[in-house]
Amino acid sequence: MRSSTLILAFAASRAVAQYTNQSKPFNLVLSSSNKTLDGALLGACHEGAAIEGLCFFSGPKNASASYNQYTFNTTSGATPVPNIGIAGLLTYTLPTGDGNIPSALRISADLTSNVAVPLFFPGPDTATLVGFDTNNKLFLPQYYDDTVVPPKYNPEPVYRWYVCTTEDDYVYTTLAWVIGTHSPENPSCQKVHVTRAFV
Ligand SMILES: *[C@@H]1O[C@H](CO)[C@@H](O)[C@H](O)[C@H]1NC(C)=O
Ligand SMILES: *[C@@H]1O[C@H](CO)[C@@H](O)[C@H](O)[C@H]1NC(C)=O
Ligand SMILES: *[C@@H]1O[C@H](CO)[C@@H](O)[C@H](O)[C@H]1NC(C)=O
Ligand SMILES: *[C@@H]1O[C@H](CO)[C@@H](O)[C@H](O)[C@H]1NC(C)=O
Repeated sequence: MRSSTLILAFAASRAVAQYTNQSKPFNLVLSSSNKTLDGALLGACHEGAAIEGLCFFSGPKNASASYNQYTFNTTSGATPVPNIGIAGLLTYTLPTGDGNIPSALRISADLTSNVAVPLFFPGPDTATLVGFDTNNKLFLPQYYDDTVVPPKYNPEPVYRWYVCTTEDDYVYTTLAWVIGTHSPENPSCQKVHVTRAFV
């Protein structure tokens, strides 16, 4: 009984937050001290059935290609949080023979590594909340600073983006997120920032 009440409460809270206010489409542009990466676009790449990673492609850029276009879904009338603004879902529309599949970015950890591979999955339900700062840089919101005792409420944007050779069904050069304040354990990782550029 008790757990079903909890599940209902959880389902209700998800139902209240509808991430249906969609931004204009944009590209995700890398910036890096490595000239090969700097200015490149992140493209959606196949990582499984209806699952895509964010891949670095070395070829010519095509800003209007659908695999290079993303949107930001927020809840209508959300209240901005100091330093964070309004967090929402990074969304991608996967074109398929059976129609378009609205997908949202999820970052889930392999608990044995500090390098996580962001992936798009169908639907909004398990997505990771992200934000864009006033310079259009992509970040993850951190609400509690647990490097102090006791953990302190201190909303801050965090930018632990890297480009790494990752293996999440396929070996690709992808965007990755490094968990915590240490260096990535994957030696291929190169520090980047990710900026949205509206098309
Ligand atoms: C994003 O918003 C659009 C417009 O409301 C909606 O059609 C789409 O399903 C949303 N994407 C996700 C992944 O929920
Ligand atoms: C720059 O990035 C490319 C693509 O990941 C990589 O092949 C190359 O080794 C990097 N160059 C340096 C100097 O790290
Ligand atoms: C870029 O993408 C658009 C939309 O998919 C396509 O029509 C166009 O042919 C592509 N351009 C190049 C140079 O591949
Ligand atoms: C919807 O999002 C846009 C930016 O993406 C924002 O300018 C607008 O105020 C939002 N609308 C509502 C009702 O929250």
